[in-house]
Amino acid sequence: MRRKIVAGNWKMHGSRTENAALVEAIVATVTSERTACVICPPFVYLHETWRMLRGGSVALGAQDLCAEAMGAHTGEVSASMLKDVGCTYVLVGHSERRALYGEDSHLVARKFAAALSKGLTPVLCVGEQLQDREASRTEAIVSAQIDAVVQLCGIQSFAQAVIAYEPVWAIGTGRTATPEQAQETHAFIRQRLVREDAKIGAGLRILYGGSVKAGNARDIFAMPDVDGGLIGGASLKADEFTAIFAAADSLAA
Ligand code: PGA
Repeated sequence: MRRKIVAGNWKMHGSRTENAALVEAIVATVTSERTACVICPPFVYLHETWRMLRGGSVALGAQDLCAEAMGAHTGEVSASMLKDVGCTYVLVGHSERRALYGEDSHLVARKFAAALSKGLTPVLCVGEQLQDREASRTEAIVSAQIDAVVQLCGIQSFAQAVIAYEPVWAIGTGRTATPEQAQETHAFIRQRLVREDAKIGAGLRILYGGSVKAGNARDIFAMPDVDGGLIGGASLKADEFTAIFAAADSLAA
């Protein structure tokens, strides 16, 4: 059985004071090892958050990284720096990076490769815009986003990676995909990878993201190809996030 993951993407939110309270509450509540828990604060708070996690069962992730290993790249942060401050995961290709910062699938694939080269687990975010869904282009869009990584890094690279399916129309909108809609695309993604390598496809964790809340998490996570969630807004509230974690963990019992 695939171990579920609940990951919190704080985006550009938080302060040292707010983070301390949030992390304390998460560390106190998330003690199960059956389900993985990851939090992804902004870069500047990573190391302090890592100290607060005290080597417990909550892992640290970053929200992005540079595709280059080092050098003259003002403002960028490398994979080895993320590793150095305690990260084990990193998001790549979040839809906000793609839409607001012009990241194309080739750059996302290079970031995925950079993460893997330093032993970080990349969480490859994929998903379609509303107009794509309405034009029945979901599968084509998601396939192209995944293919860019398969082409650059090879199918074997997915043995050390996670995919997050995040329909763009569901992110931060309160409009969640139904469990059936999530399952349909997750199954498509898994089959896409199974065709290349049956073992890697079967073992890959595919998270759902987009307006997951305590109230809808269990129904979504119960779907056979949904292996947990990538949580934005609700990851900033300790009681919501820990309830989402508990929903995933209850399914592992
Ligand atoms: P949301 O964000 O949970 O606030 O919709 C999810 C994400 O962007 O990862």
